[in-house]
Amino acid sequence: MENLFAVVLAGGKGKRTHLSYSKVLLPLCGKIMTAWVVDAILSLNPTQIVVVASPENNTKIKEIFQNKASIVIQEKPLGTGHAVQCALKEIDAEKGTLLVACGDTPLLDDEIFQALFKLHEDKKGAATILTTKLSNPTGYGRIVRNKNGLVAKIVEEKDASPRILKIQEINTGTYCFNLKKLKDVLPSLTPSNSQNEYYLTDCIANLMKKKEKVFALELANPQLGLGVNTLKEYAEARKILNNRIKEKWLSQGVIFLDPDTVSLDYDISIGSETVVYPFTILEKGTNIGSRCEIGPFSRISETYIGSETVVQNSVLTSCEIGNNCRIGPFAYLRPGTKIEDHVKVGDFVEIKNSTIDSKSKVPHLSYIGDATIGKGVNIGAGTITCNYDGKEKHHTIIEDGAFIGSNTNLRASVRIGKNAVTGAGSVVINNVEPNSVVAGVPAKEIKKREVV
Ligand code: UD1
Ligand code: CA
Repeated sequence: MENLFAVVLAGGKGKRTHLSYSKVLLPLCGKIMTAWVVDAILSLNPTQIVVVASPENNTKIKEIFQNKASIVIQEKPLGTGHAVQCALKEIDAEKGTLLVACGDTPLLDDEIFQALFKLHEDKKGAATILTTKLSNPTGYGRIVRNKNGLVAKIVEEKDASPRILKIQEINTGTYCFNLKKLKDVLPSLTPSNSQNEYYLTDCIANLMKKKEKVFALELANPQLGLGVNTLKEYAEARKILNNRIKEKWLSQGVIFLDPDTVSLDYDISIGSETVVYPFTILEKGTNIGSRCEIGPFSRISETYIGSETVVQNSVLTSCEIGNNCRIGPFAYLRPGTKIEDHVKVGDFVEIKNSTIDSKSKVPHLSYIGDATIGKGVNIGAGTITCNYDGKEKHHTIIEDGAFIGSNTNLRASVRIGKNAVTGAGSVVINNVEPNSVVAGVPAKEIKKREVV
């Protein structure tokens, strides 16, 4: 929107979380807390959006938002008013609407920002504040209205008299300002309050002194205005966002046996009739097909899974799994694992940077690293690819139809030919010819394999 400029405040200290790093960087269902606010505002298509960062968090903030927003560093956290003063140095426009939001209110969504912007444009006041009513308003700035119902001022909790503390209408920290009128009053802020900060909220009283009009949009669902100042509030926000994501998949035919124990990131997808068992975590970039069974006790990140695949008690990171596979219980599939259809990866199997073609089996207690395994291969229990010589990683190739006996060590680089067999306990240090049977330490050919 041509008329719209936005500022998101993320330069505060976040003292109340007692973390060594900035609270606005806390992850929430796949993106940092502030990204929820920035992304929601971006969907309104503002002409410009400025994120105010701190000297401590700006590297991370730049990394995340560099293609989406301008970043300004507020050298000292002198208050929300000071933060907006810093941001305005980046905005050259003189006219328009400035949407200001806090990086710690992640539950506000694009519809709410849109409604606030619309009301502001309709009413044409100097400012429009997003407020809500809380039965326990502790911690928030209180909205003081005048006889006409307009907002007269905002009083911070720490500066409020007992009478004002009783007011239940609170400031969510989200506003639309007439940019020009805000620029007129912003320089006159002073830190004469209990926190010695330049409060953005004082602009409201200053606008009223200039006979300007300030309106409010009251959020019907007060929960959405939650400001995350403590780790307790962070946990609350996470739960609400997680439920929001779960509701989406519940409405699209995904079966959750115990939804309360499941965590979902925002950018995942799950096909219909897939059953998600308790204590399952589906993270960033995970796409699961239809009619799968996922969990219990599984953590899956950046992984593609086809349809009708079962994953039990397993950890999968950056993998591609086909249709009709059986994974786990207790498998650990690391980045670069690519598994085709109808493959079984059983218990206590670790696989990394390897491909396994269709209908192969790695049923028990194996380590497969840097390997290419063909179709219809059976890997016996306890098989290890010895891929690392202390300096470099080496590749193992196991061709179609090979049968690897239990407890085989495959010293890479090594190739096991098509339909070859290794005897139990073999240590294979040389390539094995197709259709031959090898055994021993080091493994030697003992015969040819009978027709399979
Ligand atoms: C603020 C409002 C309060 C409102 C509440 C809603 C003020 C003075 N108070 O209080 O009326 O009810 O939000 O959640 O505005 N920040 C900066 N630079 C600073 C200080 C803060 O960028 O110097 C950022 C923080 O990172 C945070 C946001 O501004 O994302 C709000 O700051 P915070 O200290 O949490 O304000 P509250 O005390 O919650
Ligand atoms: Ca806050």
